[in-house]
Parts: sequence; structure tokens; C-alpha cells
Amino acid sequence: MTILDGKALSNKIKDEVKVEVEELIKEKHITPGLAVILVGSDAASATYVASKAKSCKNAGIYSVVHEMPDTITQEELLETIKRMNENPSLDGILVQLPLPKHIDTTTVLEAIDPLKDVDGFHPYNVGRMVSNLDSFLPATPFGVMRMFEEYGIDLVGKNACVIGSSDIVGKPMASLLINAKATVTVCNSRTKDLKAQTLASDIVIIAVGVPHLLKADMIKEGVIVIDVGINRLDTGKLTGDADFEDCKTKSSFITPVPGGVGPMTIAMLLKNTVKAAYLRET
Ligand code: GUN
Repeated sequence: MTILDGKALSNKIKDEVKVEVEELIKEKHITPGLAVILVGSDAASATYVASKAKSCKNAGIYSVVHEMPDTITQEELLETIKRMNENPSLDGILVQLPLPKHIDTTTVLEAIDPLKDVDGFHPYNVGRMVSNLDSFLPATPFGVMRMFEEYGIDLVGKNACVIGSSDIVGKPMASLLINAKATVTVCNSRTKDLKAQTLASDIVIIAVGVPHLLKADMIKEGVIVIDVGINRLDTGKLTGDADFEDCKTKSSFITPVPGGVGPMTIAMLLKNTVKAAYLRET
């Protein structure tokens, strides 16, 4: 059994990004810039945003965090995005989700210039991703694909089960696996017999936000388990959607929580920001 070390791999990627940023500055006189918009005062979102800003700084990427109260109107948010679209020193724009209920997420995401859409959530980039064309890939599934690559995990012909069908993780994850020639099943909370699906799978990727949903009796010997869940228990401890101690007894590869997929997400966001900077017209 091999533990997929997302912490170590994310550090390696952050080092790669640092070198790319130095090159951009030296050869093109471009300092990559990322704007993060945070609406409201959700504690988890604020933590993620702070972490994104810190990682940018460490990588030499210029970043601004634009905080807005949850009383803002949709128009005010759209106006802010428009200004950022037109600001040549910003290569990437990221609106932290979820947004308050009175704001329409699709309208907001569609307002971002697709060439600055480092989250890969704009329908333009979603469409290009599904069509296997070059695009910005959503950071979490992108990070999972990088883990497979790094650990030499071949996806061709594998049965992959994605549990969770969110726009941020499940759906893009399924698209990337399809493009990699895996045989993909996507499950959700209405799936009739989840265990039958997971037992038939060589790879199980779980992203549902239910602590310890995946147990050893649901997976076959030698399976690869990718746990995207980050759940805080009443004890304050972070845990995943898979029961790690239980599942690791049958896994060939498994990601821990914390230290698995989580750290990869920010590393891939930095990658996307550098990609956007390379696309900048000079
Ligand atoms: N909320 C949870 N995950 C994400 C993410 O990857 N990007 C943004 N913008 N918001 C999120």
C-alpha cells in the first residue's frame, strides 16, 4: 500500500511554479497577478482565501484579496469583475464559492473573462475541457490527475467510480477521467446501490462531504482510493469521506486527509495563474 503524499507533491509543484514565475519576470517582465473575491464572512471560505493569498506570495505571484460584504448586490459584484477583467496586471480572477443566495453563481462565473478564469468554472472552459481541448482545469480534479501521473498510475481501461457530481469536483473529475480513457461511473446521493458500483471499481474518487462514508467492505482488493472530502469532526479533527484506517487495508494507493488532495488544489491554482500569465498579450 502506498500513501499518495499530496503535501510533498504540492511542495514540488510550488517549487516548479516559483521557477516559472522567475522566468516570466526575467524574460517577459511579467509578474503574474491573481485577484480573489471573497463575498461574506463564511469562516471556511476566509481560511481558504487566506491560504491562497499566502501561497501566491511564497511563489512570487502578486495577489489581491477583494473582500465584499454579503449585503452587496449582484450588479456590484459584476462591476468589480468587469474592472478586474480590464486590469492588465491581473492574470487570474477567482470568485470564492459558495456565494450568498441572492447572487446567481452562473451569471457571476460567466462574467469572468475566460482567459482569466483560473478556476476553470466558466462554461467556455468547461466546454473546452469536456471536448479535451486546452483549457483551465478546475484545481482539485487537475490536482488528482497530477497525482496519478506522478505515481505512475495508468488510467487507460480502468473502472473509475466518482462519488459526488458537483460542478467543482465530481463532474470535471469524470470528464478528465473519460479523456484519459478510463471507464467512468458517476454516483450521487440517489444512487441505488453504491456498494455495487464501488466494488466493481479499480479507482474510487469520493467527494461528498460525509465523514467515513467509504468503508473497506465497499471496495475490492488493490483499489486506488482518492479522498477529496475534508470534514471537521466535533473533536476538531479533520477527516475525509473515506474511513482511511479501514480502506487502507485493501488499497494499493490511498490519499490521506489531511495531506492528500487538499494541498494539491492550491498548487494547481498557482499553476493555472502562471498559465494565464503566459497567455497575457504583451
Ligand atoms: N469553494 C470550494 N472550492 C472552491 C474552488 O476550487 N474554487 C472556488 N472559487 N471556490 C471554491
